[in-house]
Amino acid sequence: MDNKKIYIINGSPRKNQNTAKMCSSFVLGVESTGIEAEIVNLYDLNFKGCQSCFACKLRGGKNLGRCAYPDDLKEVLNKVSYSNGIAFASPIYFGDVTGVMKAFMERLLFPFVTYDENYTPIPPKKLETAVIYTMNVNEEMFIKSYIGANNSGPLGFFENWISHIYKKPVRVCAFNTYQFSDYSKYVADVWDEKEKAKQRDEVFPIDLKNAYEAGKNMGYMIINNGK
Ligand SMILES: Cc1cc2nc3c(=O)[nH]c(=O)nc-3n(C[C@H](O)[C@H](O)[C@H](O)COP(=O)(O)O)c2cc1C
Repeated sequence: MDNKKIYIINGSPRKNQNTAKMCSSFVLGVESTGIEAEIVNLYDLNFKGCQSCFACKLRGGKNLGRCAYPDDLKEVLNKVSYSNGIAFASPIYFGDVTGVMKAFMERLLFPFVTYDENYTPIPPKKLETAVIYTMNVNEEMFIKSYIGANNSGPLGFFENWISHIYKKPVRVCAFNTYQFSDYSKYVADVWDEKEKAKQRDEVFPIDLKNAYEAGKNMGYMIINNGK
């Protein structure tokens, strides 16, 4: 039996803040099922978004259906594509995932989209997926503006493409996150530090638990499907 593995892609530049903590909790959940998990910190890698070289679409080409652009992402893309599950984790920047997460998405998913009338998906494996978001806004604003009606918002679009290529992602969110180590040092009067600290102390632990459960559930999905 081959080793089963889940990759958690961290699209946050901060290694020990909200998104990273959600990733670590997700990992613990996965590992509780006996399945291996690895976090990939995108900000540690030297890579760019899709170069539009179209080697992945070249008729009869040796790289048809995969991105072979030679930078730090090449090996990661290969490993992720043949794993069993992937969690895309990102802070929300301007209502969307971060730029590096977008660049990662272009490189991972575009080769698996066929340019036919159905955009037929051709990933080597149909992976289990999750999305993990952390952000300043509350849930209502998130659903209304970022997911959007009928998934028409930036994150709705992001999730639609993941669902098209892989399985529909399970979504885990942390809203109204604590953003600074010390609010008094920064110009951020729009936020009430006390309210933020309360959320951090009372709600964020629940968010972490939800991330743990999502990791555990993904682990069991993989074990039960035997894939
Ligand atoms: C450049 C930038 C843009 C941001 N844009 C948004 C936004 O549009 N909506 C939002 O709710 N939070 C926004 N935030 C706040 C972060 O999403 C939030 O603090 C997040 O939890 C940070 O994650 P981290 O702790 O992993 O860095 C932004 C933060 C930065 C640095």
